[in-house]
Amino acid sequence: FVMKLLVLGSGAGGGSPQWNCNSEVSKAVREHKDGTSIRTQSSIAVSADDEKWFLFNASPDIGSQMLKNKQLHPKKEPRHSPISGVVLTNGDVDHVAGLLTLRERQNLTLYAHRRVHDVLGKNSIFNVLNPDYVEKKEMSMNKEFELEDKNFKKSGILVEAFEVPGKVALWLEDESKGENFGTQEGDTIGLKISSKENLKSFFYIPACAKITDELQSRINGSDLILFDGTLWKNDEMEQSKVGEKTGQRMGHINNSGVNGSMEMFKKIDVKRKIYIHINTTNPILLDYSEERKIVEENGWEVSYDGMEISL
Ligand code: MLT
Ligand code: MN
Repeated sequence: FVMKLLVLGSGAGGGSPQWNCNSEVSKAVREHKDGTSIRTQSSIAVSADDEKWFLFNASPDIGSQMLKNKQLHPKKEPRHSPISGVVLTNGDVDHVAGLLTLRERQNLTLYAHRRVHDVLGKNSIFNVLNPDYVEKKEMSMNKEFELEDKNFKKSGILVEAFEVPGKVALWLEDESKGENFGTQEGDTIGLKISSKENLKSFFYIPACAKITDELQSRINGSDLILFDGTLWKNDEMEQSKVGEKTGQRMGHINNSGVNGSMEMFKKIDVKRKIYIHINTTNPILLDYSEERKIVEENGWEVSYDGMEISL
């Protein structure tokens, strides 16, 4: 078997179109203009055997995502799900709210950094994940391990998690804690996901505020990366008149500009580069935009819902 990666949701928090947004992209998508497509909220699924699937982040759109992708439909009667577990990269709403949909007597393993397990544990609504069925596992950083289902059956998927510059979840921001709102190491992580069979791997980093030297050397020489494509430029929300927050304020590096990801990646050897977690204000979402042309000229692809990659 080859490892398969399925993009369930290529959009950022809110998706595209976003419910209360009427800026250029959201509007065009809502009008089904040529060269647009609906992008649900941030999540991918990975399988090494075409049978058991692991979700990487569980978005609020998980219901429609599961419906749309037949790989995730129940295969046996009367109750079954191919979803064996979930791995979280942070505690943001777009990455954890889908857990509430995965309630009800279904065996799952839930992998996250201790920081994220802690905040979910403190929020009693997540008790719908019945501990008799849901095994919570804390991920150690910089240490590869194999994903397992609830019955300790190995998945053939190897994961190595590592901290990246980011921000504490929006709903946990604490202004009294100064400029970074109480952000600590581990609030945002990136993942290296590999097939145990052929050791082919890819990086999944849907949120990242800065490309550090450490991150550069980690990803240098890799075959594939799915990387934070949230914003085209840092002040895009303000310019689109939909908000005041900059990308940096939200824990996201922009695509363009001297400190943007396109420029930074020119120094890094990665064969295939794909933007994911793309905000509805980002013009690269439109197939016909000038910005889309620029990212493509710089060797980047823009992910879309339903995109499939075999490794
Ligand atoms: C983000 O990626 O910045 C967050 O998902 C924002 C949010 O929670 O809406
Ligand atoms: Mn997000």
